Amino acid sequence: MLKFLKLPLITVPLVAILCTGFSVSAIAGGMGIGRTATSDEIAAWNNDIRPDGLGLPEGSGTVEVGEEVFAERCAICHGDFGEGVDRWPVLAGGQDTLTDDRPVKTIGSFWPYLSTVFDYVNRAMPFGESGTLTPDEVYAITAYLLYVNDIVDDEEFELSKANFTSIRLPNEDNFYFDNREDSPVFTNRDACMSDCKTDVKITSRARILDVTPDEDGEAGGAID
Ligand code: HEC
Repeated sequence: MLKFLKLPLITVPLVAILCTGFSVSAIAGGMGIGRTATSDEIAAWNNDIRPDGLGLPEGSGTVEVGEEVFAERCAICHGDFGEGVDRWPVLAGGQDTLTDDRPVKTIGSFWPYLSTVFDYVNRAMPFGESGTLTPDEVYAITAYLLYVNDIVDDEEFELSKANFTSIRLPNEDNFYFDNREDSPVFTNRDACMSDCKTDVKITSRARILDVTPDEDGEAGGAID
């Protein structure tokens, strides 16, 4: 089995051709369905931003401007300083709580890469009005989020495409690339192929985090 998986990628199309009886030219010319995506369509979907900065738009923004935009567009839910209103998510603080029973996971305490902050805010926020921020506004908000998390301490700090990757988040080193081969936590590498155990015992459950307040203003509950 393992040997099969290690065969070069070309094996897969070849096997497909053999199994389905399609000729090579039919595959090469397409399957006769759909059409080629236009470059505009690809660009509209290809908007994620990588930790190495790939995908970042041109632009820049300062902490000061970010504070204004945040107050106008974000603070109603996340609080003026990212402290969170009611049970809307907290975006700042929580440093040194990761080993607590109830860690406070924020950008400053938990998130590994600044690119995730930019990417998430850019695509998902403000909640219910996503896609309405300009690149400069997202740079400014990201700079402000660095400021409220004590990662930069100068209100005049300007975040831009040029200096973006020079900023590292404190928890980056606690994340690692998991290729299942040499991962420190995933140790059971031999998949069971026969006489495998039949019973499954649930040893723990993920906590249900309901961060959205109810309509009457009551906080949604965190259930263990
Ligand atoms: C109407 C309330 C609301 C507004 C306004 C809002 N957010 Fe959010 N935000 C949320 C909710 C709800 C979530 C959690 C969404 C989820 O988990 O799917 C969230 C999640 C986040 C997160 C991820 C938190 C985490 O640790 O998982 C960030 C970062 C964030 N918002 C930033 C912003 C920024 C920046 C703005 C302003 C541009 C903004 N939000 C405006 C409600 C809001």
